[in-house]
Amino acid sequence: MSQLVSDAMKQQAALLSMLRRENIYTYSLEVSSSCSNHIVVSGAERINFISNNYLGFSTHPKVLEAVKRGVELYGLGIGGSPMACGTTDIHYRLQDKIARLYEREACVLLASGYQALLGSIQAAIGKGDVALLDSLVHRSIVDGVTLSGSDRRMWLHNDTQDLESLLARVRTKYARMLIIVDSVYSMDGDWADLPELYRLKEEHGALLLIDEAHSLGVLGKRGYGLPDHFDMPHAPDVIAGTFSKFAGAVGGFVAGPADFIDHLRHNASAYIFSASLPPMTVAGVNKSFELLDEEPQWRQNLWDNISYFLKGLNVLGFDTGPSRTAVVPLIIRDVEKTMIFNKMIFDEGVFASPIVHPAVPPAESRIRLGVMATHTREDLDRSLGVFEKVGKKLEII
Ligand SMILES: Cc1ncc(COP(=O)(O)O)c(C=O)c1O
Repeated sequence: MSQLVSDAMKQQAALLSMLRRENIYTYSLEVSSSCSNHIVVSGAERINFISNNYLGFSTHPKVLEAVKRGVELYGLGIGGSPMACGTTDIHYRLQDKIARLYEREACVLLASGYQALLGSIQAAIGKGDVALLDSLVHRSIVDGVTLSGSDRRMWLHNDTQDLESLLARVRTKYARMLIIVDSVYSMDGDWADLPELYRLKEEHGALLLIDEAHSLGVLGKRGYGLPDHFDMPHAPDVIAGTFSKFAGAVGGFVAGPADFIDHLRHNASAYIFSASLPPMTVAGVNKSFELLDEEPQWRQNLWDNISYFLKGLNVLGFDTGPSRTAVVPLIIRDVEKTMIFNKMIFDEGVFASPIVHPAVPPAESRIRLGVMATHTREDLDRSLGVFEKVGKKLEII
């Protein structure tokens, strides 16, 4: 092995080669179809539980029509950063739409959700400030804080009492405090307590940034995410999000006060030094936002599927943790069993993600299932049958 590979890397390489030898490595398999409720993987059709395309919009005919028009008008890409030639009329239209939807003064688009988190955090805080993170926030948030140069303190997951005592301990030590949460947690499927977070931020003079990745399109009367769910549109100071989940596309956004968004545009490296989103993608995402209002039946289907599926799994005896949304974990608590379970359900025609260390601690190893609005009752029943068969064989249930 080359000198580039350290001892820790060798350990990981040994684990990976064991998984491949045992034929239980199921990452990055070759997909040769669109991301629908069924998906063709390694040459065979399977029921799709691996995607975050919760509403099924990535293949919606009206979205594809909008993308086609985008290609005709603008071609494959725009060939520049947003500050150069990368902000077209449809980029402006989408920014305005998101700002209106979240009741903010302004919004800016970035090339991914990851970059939206990097950019929003780097623009909001710096040296002398502190970020107060829920312990289960997404990695993009942790990386954003590192990039910002501010201090980082963690509080126990969804434990606002722990946050309150942390706020009381640090408030005199820092110029500014930024509380950051995922609206819906990407591995557990539970959501943040926005009313309590708002109370604490007001009481302690802190700021609040929420990551709407798994919440937009899913939560709220109109599908406008966590602030919509609690009817508290002004509770967060900054809202970041992605188009890779509710629209099944790619791209990110940050919404907030106009002066803050202007500051981000001139200071956030993830915005300044990266190419703009292709207009065809922006056109498709624009249509996806319209569909939230025009076709609410997708959100209704999704929630019907979530409650049917969660109930079915719990009746079988699976541990689905605190999940209440389209993100459903099957908590197995053993790395090897998790990998074997995933391979066995794959062989039975169900495609899902095994989540093991370093994404979660080994004792939290799990299968992550993404419920879709386009799953049929037959898809869900067939999958429950497969989970029951494999779960019993491996003595998980
Ligand atoms: C909670 C959360 N935030 C941010 C991101 C990053 O979004 P994207 O994949 O669109 O860059 C993800 C993606 O996995 C996520 O789950």
